[in-house]
Amino acid sequence: MYFVANWKMFGNLKSLNSLDKVIKFSKSKEIKKGRLIYCPPYTLISSFFKKFKNCLIDIGAQNCHESIDYGPHTGFVNCKMLKDIGANYVIIGHSENRSKGETDKIINIKIKSAIKAKLKVIFCIGETLTEKRKKKTRSVLSKQIKIGLNKIKKKSNMFIAYEPVWSIGTGKIPSTKELEQIIEFIKNKFKGRSPKILYGGSVNPKNIKNIKNINNLNGFLVGGASQNPKKFIDIVKKTYN
Ligand code: 13P
Repeated sequence: MYFVANWKMFGNLKSLNSLDKVIKFSKSKEIKKGRLIYCPPYTLISSFFKKFKNCLIDIGAQNCHESIDYGPHTGFVNCKMLKDIGANYVIIGHSENRSKGETDKIINIKIKSAIKAKLKVIFCIGETLTEKRKKKTRSVLSKQIKIGLNKIKKKSNMFIAYEPVWSIGTGKIPSTKELEQIIEFIKNKFKGRSPKILYGGSVNPKNIKNIKNINNLNGFLVGGASQNPKKFIDIVKKTYN
């Protein structure tokens, strides 16, 4: 199972101290085969890289510019730059960016650019509450997958994170049955080796027991709870116990 910590726009140099507990945990037997990946803000990627030098925790970024080339794009960072400072993963298509105008087409270009730079992609999809109420979840996910992954052949190295927008930061999660059906729906879209599937949205040490055994689920993308080392470790521990 993969446990991805998305710190969003939180964290500073002081927060590096909070990682000591997680580093210790990552070296213990308790973690079993779980893999930890931290996606801090751009400003902390280098520091995280140094901090995780002697352990197996991996690092990712939370977004990237769509261009693989260097260029006059003030304020942006491309995948080559991310790879250069130690990132191995990149989250693309997060709903917090989609809601600010990131389209499926741009997401598709970003994914291609990440693959070229040899970053592993964590591709986020998910429906809003209105779409869910109108029973459009499946059609929304289909469209996001179709356009987002257009002309991308090798998908087995990729992660799809199902993050229902109504679940992010709200404390609400889908029912086990609902989640099982959606994961199966996503999985069935791929022939052969499909991407690994993560769930994200209000995952915490309390609700993890309800969602840890979902069929075909390969892990979790954790927002708020991942900033607290104890909670993040608890999520991993409870997944295995
Ligand atoms: P929360 O875990 O805070 O709901 O955030 C989920 C998320 O957006 C992870 O990418």
